[in-house]
Amino acid sequence: MKRDKSFLRHLALKAAHTINALGEGFEVKVKPGRGNFVTDADFASEQVIMDEIRSHFPDDKILSEETANDTTDALKADHIWIIDPIDGTNNFRFGRHYSAISIGYATKGELQEGIVYNFSTQELYQASKGNGAFYNEIQMQTPQIPRIDNISVGIGNSSDPKRTQKHLNILASIEPVPWVSIRGSSALEISEIARGSLNAYIHSCLHPWDVAAAMLIVRESGGVVKNFKGEEATFLSPDIIAGYKDVVDQLLPYIHES
Ligand code: IPD
Ligand code: CA
Ligand code: CA
Repeated sequence: MKRDKSFLRHLALKAAHTINALGEGFEVKVKPGRGNFVTDADFASEQVIMDEIRSHFPDDKILSEETANDTTDALKADHIWIIDPIDGTNNFRFGRHYSAISIGYATKGELQEGIVYNFSTQELYQASKGNGAFYNEIQMQTPQIPRIDNISVGIGNSSDPKRTQKHLNILASIEPVPWVSIRGSSALEISEIARGSLNAYIHSCLHPWDVAAAMLIVRESGGVVKNFKGEEATFLSPDIIAGYKDVVDQLLPYIHES
């Protein structure tokens, strides 16, 4: 077994099967923090993915939202898996069909593989370093948009409401105000940039499992993912802006001024 595209696809499909087999029979629990929930399906998906990785690569480090979330030395690990067993749990619990399994694989901080799979709609985004990014089987290229006067921008609900307010203020200060989208799954929203259904995404207080796989997907399709200082983001960067380079360059000053 190799740590490659087919293995990641195998992991995502197996987890999707587990989640979908639960149907609507899952329990919802409240986690500490604002609007933070977890369901039986999150735990079941995580277990399946971790068991499968451990059975083939027992020495690899695993960073996963629900039960293995210690980020110490994550950027130094020779082999690390970064897992969100369900990104968009709030959508999942209300049956909104906009949630995904997100799995990234990195060596020494460099993302090598990433998959984001909407297990309700079977939409699959996948990228391998140096080999492009794909939506289902179609290769994606982030649209080269030169100006920000007619773009769609996604933001998210940050665990710190002041940060969400700040992002809304930034968007309101752009003339004309962009088409604003808040859909509740950073992994899917960032991946959407690669296929042009969203042009930029701004979010604070994120965790590595929210972004790792999608970061590679955007970069492999020709887009960029930066921190708020304008530097290349790592999967540990909590504050990120993603999009086509020219769009990100024009949005960054608004973030600096806010
Ligand atoms: C959440 C989603 C959401 C973002 C939140 C995340 P979860 O992840 O990615 O879009 O705004 O900050 O916590 O909790 O559904 O895995
Ligand atoms: Ca998440
Ligand atoms: Ca999650």
